[in-house]
Amino acid sequence: METVVLTGVIRHGRGKGHLAGFPTANLQAEQSALPAYGVYASVFAAEDGKLLPGVTNIGTRPTADESSVPTVETWLPGYQGDLYGERASVVLLSRLREIRAFPDMAALKAQIDRDAAKADEESRRFIARAAVSGSAADTRGIGARIAPNLERGDVITLTGPLGAGKSEFARGIARGLGVEGTLPSPTFTILNVYDRGRLPLYHYDWYRIEDPEELLAIGAEEHLPGDGVTLVEWSEQAPELLPEKRLAVQIIPLDEERRIVYFEPTGGFRPVGGWMTE
Ligand SMILES: Nc1ncnc2c1ncn2[C@@H]1O[C@H](COP(=O)(O)OP(=O)(O)O)[C@@H](O)[C@H]1O
Ligand SMILES: [Mg+2]
Repeated sequence: METVVLTGVIRHGRGKGHLAGFPTANLQAEQSALPAYGVYASVFAAEDGKLLPGVTNIGTRPTADESSVPTVETWLPGYQGDLYGERASVVLLSRLREIRAFPDMAALKAQIDRDAAKADEESRRFIARAAVSGSAADTRGIGARIAPNLERGDVITLTGPLGAGKSEFARGIARGLGVEGTLPSPTFTILNVYDRGRLPLYHYDWYRIEDPEELLAIGAEEHLPGDGVTLVEWSEQAPELLPEKRLAVQIIPLDEERRIVYFEPTGGFRPVGGWMTE
């Protein structure tokens, strides 16, 4: 499923889960539309930037009460701290099951433990490939930090909504490769080339591309892959031109300032796991 993010303040719930041994973080979503009711494998982004594996219930809680008001409640296995009053986000990764009523809270608890076991691998895998940014400078910093790991022929796609920070991330990569000065935002230019760094950097923005032919006309396949590092913003405009082996970087806005920068290598692109902690 497409990644869905809900953001809001953590409020006190009724405390029933707490009594039954599984306190849930009750998020008052600022988004007006909730995704389909159900139980989801999720990642919880706390206010301090920590990412925690979770299981999120969206909708009613037929085992706990009769209320028809939907809530967004996340069980964070093993988490002990206090989240009340924090502004946090949940990232929904996949839907595990429908909501249903259990005979009692103990039966519900047993099911939630099974949900958590199922969700655990997916949530941890996501967290291992994700970095949290709290500002444009942070996003540039993440780009700069991965740059030393980049090699000749690497192709990196940058996706995320307008204003997510794709160009900021690209600026960070340029800085990390040793390209001096600031990069112009290439939104109105299909290609900018920077050849003063450790490797040549080809920075594409395909936002305005209406037909892949426009890219072939300027010889873009020469850079897919090329003799340096190729960055492509809005690569979804011409996916057929992308090599199988690439690093997909998805920038997921959590709120006005916070982003998750998520790295997904495909087609045999080397693992990025260690990059984030270096
Ligand atoms: N954490 C963040 N990371 C990146 N940009 C952010 C962040 N928080 C706020 N911003 C703002 O969003 C803008 C993103 O611009 P840009 O990188 O050009 O987006 P995109 O290329 O994805 O359309 C930044 O210039 C900054 O003003
Ligand atoms: Mg941009």
